[in-house]
Amino acid sequence: MPRWLEDCRPFAHNGSPAAYIPELAKAPKEALGVTLLATDGSTISGGDSSQMFTMQSISKVFTLLLALMSNGEEAVFAKVGMEPTGDDFNSMLKLELVEPGIPFNPLINAGAIAVTSLIPGIDVMDKTLRILEFIRYLAGDENIGYNIAVSSSEAATAYRNRSLAYFLKDNDVLDAQTDVEELLSVYFNHCAIEVNCHHLARMALILAHGGLDPLTNRQLLPRRYVQIAKTFMLTCGMYNASGEFAIKVGIPAKSGVAGGIMAVVPGQYGIGIIGPALDRRGNSIAGVRLLEAMSVECDWSIF
Ligand code: DON
Repeated sequence: MPRWLEDCRPFAHNGSPAAYIPELAKAPKEALGVTLLATDGSTISGGDSSQMFTMQSISKVFTLLLALMSNGEEAVFAKVGMEPTGDDFNSMLKLELVEPGIPFNPLINAGAIAVTSLIPGIDVMDKTLRILEFIRYLAGDENIGYNIAVSSSEAATAYRNRSLAYFLKDNDVLDAQTDVEELLSVYFNHCAIEVNCHHLARMALILAHGGLDPLTNRQLLPRRYVQIAKTFMLTCGMYNASGEFAIKVGIPAKSGVAGGIMAVVPGQYGIGIIGPALDRRGNSIAGVRLLEAMSVECDWSIF
């Protein structure tokens, strides 16, 4: 592990932390950490694995699961599609171009905002806490919270997400009663949920076992919904780098703009990675290299 970490760390020089959310730009550029959690509970951690960071888009996997569990497949897929876009994660392009104007999938920003509108609750705090409780339950840590400075920093600069959300309302993906600002507050809050590599690895291990927690032998999530979530991770989890990632690494994974990656080796491992310097598609530049090195060495590709 130390060799892989030190081999991959220099790649951080070719990227930089996300700047469009000002609070994320402060992250240490050269940090790199990883936790691998195996089915028997044994853990390998290296580098900055205990550093806390915000989940950002990784939280979209869990809002999707929660929306499916609360509303069922039919209601969710009335609002989002099942296809990769090939465009940037915050793109508006296909919303106008392709009928019926629903977001292509739940992992791009437009799709995740639509999914967040399906989270039950009476107000912003109730919905935020419901998502937070779900993450705490899966990660096995009651102390997980969300970073208010990051959430507010995003809220203050989210011109693109605001446009997307109002566009969705105009297209009737969000119904007429939806208060877009409140919906976006829930979305920014869940993106700002703060975890470390161990938390991501713990949640990924549950996904690796079809929703069964192998450490307690309890079925925490419906197998069918986990199957849907992992399929989206494989086809859309690394955005418009998902095809390349599938060829080079070959496992379901989800990235976030704080530099986190959650990856799943089916039946074997849950993996959490942090490396705040991003490539131009918004994925951790050193984190992707690290996953590639480990996957090649351990023959993880599912193909
Ligand atoms: O909505 C946004 O732009 C961020 N809160 C999340 C985007 C993100 O993590 C994209 N990932 N690589």
